[in-house]
Amino acid sequence: MNSIKHIAVLTSGGDSPGMNPAIRAVVRTAIYHGLKVTGVQRGYQGLLEKKFTPLKASSVGNILQRGGTFLKTSRSPEFRQKEVRKKAFENLKNYGIDALIVIGGDGSFKGASLLNKEYGLPIVGIPGTIDNDISGTNYSIGFYTAVQTAVEAVDKIRDTASSHERNFLIEVMGRNASAIANYVGICSGAETVLTPDKEVNYQSLVEKIKQGQDRGKKSSIIIVAEGKVAGRSYQIQETLHNQYNVKAHVCILGHTQRGGNPTAQERFWATQMGHEAVMGLLGGYCRHATILLENEVKLNPIETCLHKRNTLTGNFQELIDKLSI
Ligand code: F6P
Repeated sequence: MNSIKHIAVLTSGGDSPGMNPAIRAVVRTAIYHGLKVTGVQRGYQGLLEKKFTPLKASSVGNILQRGGTFLKTSRSPEFRQKEVRKKAFENLKNYGIDALIVIGGDGSFKGASLLNKEYGLPIVGIPGTIDNDISGTNYSIGFYTAVQTAVEAVDKIRDTASSHERNFLIEVMGRNASAIANYVGICSGAETVLTPDKEVNYQSLVEKIKQGQDRGKKSSIIIVAEGKVAGRSYQIQETLHNQYNVKAHVCILGHTQRGGNPTAQERFWATQMGHEAVMGLLGGYCRHATILLENEVKLNPIETCLHKRNTLTGNFQELIDKLSI
């Protein structure tokens, strides 16, 4: 018989639209199956500070459609330390918690996996980051809404870009991942996408802009993936201007991409993942993550989800370049 009676849920790392529907599904599924549920506020930090709140079915009412995470989140680099994890486990144990669901990125998954390895605590991870860069799953919660937000912003910029006949460098989030940039490039009909894995090839970028102008284009949209540090578009703008006499405006979309109401698609997958996480714990899965593969939510060992996924998908960039002739 399964001995899990009381589960906790937390969100960790950068927030992402869709975390709320996932929390709602976790809480309601757990209660439906007779479990006690506790919400941990502010991610792993909350485990250390004992920020535990008992949750009822009504605690997660009216959050399905809201962006952000009602449990709050934080980045907790100190969780890499063994003694910090020990304290977190003791706090969980003293509160009578038998299992933990962590919604976050690969870094948050590493913390959960270590809690399992070191203390045998049953854990299930739910992928949640707008970057969509977690290994072992084709989807992480927040990605579609972030892309939608960015595409809507590019559409708006396009209006002013064409009215003023201007070129724009539009920088999207994703750190070293390029998933958002590639999707936004395809969905907004950008000229090209500049990913952080390669040096910018100014010669071909300028040729691309000029080739467009020769066939009557009055403005060009270039999507820049932010890379390690946000703001690299300003450097690109300067080089284009100083060395190639090409003017471009910069717009950094930044944290707007992390907010907003989750799209229907996001709510759909996040809800299924939240449900699957609880069902997994009840079914004896204890070091797993929910994943989306072949259009189906499943559980896989969390080890398959502890790395960064290659988000470059060369074909996408080829497609964007082909269609922007
Ligand atoms: O959560 C992922 C992400 O939004 C990345 O795309 C971005 O580089 C980073 O977080 C920004 O982090 P912060 O909000 O902590 O500045």
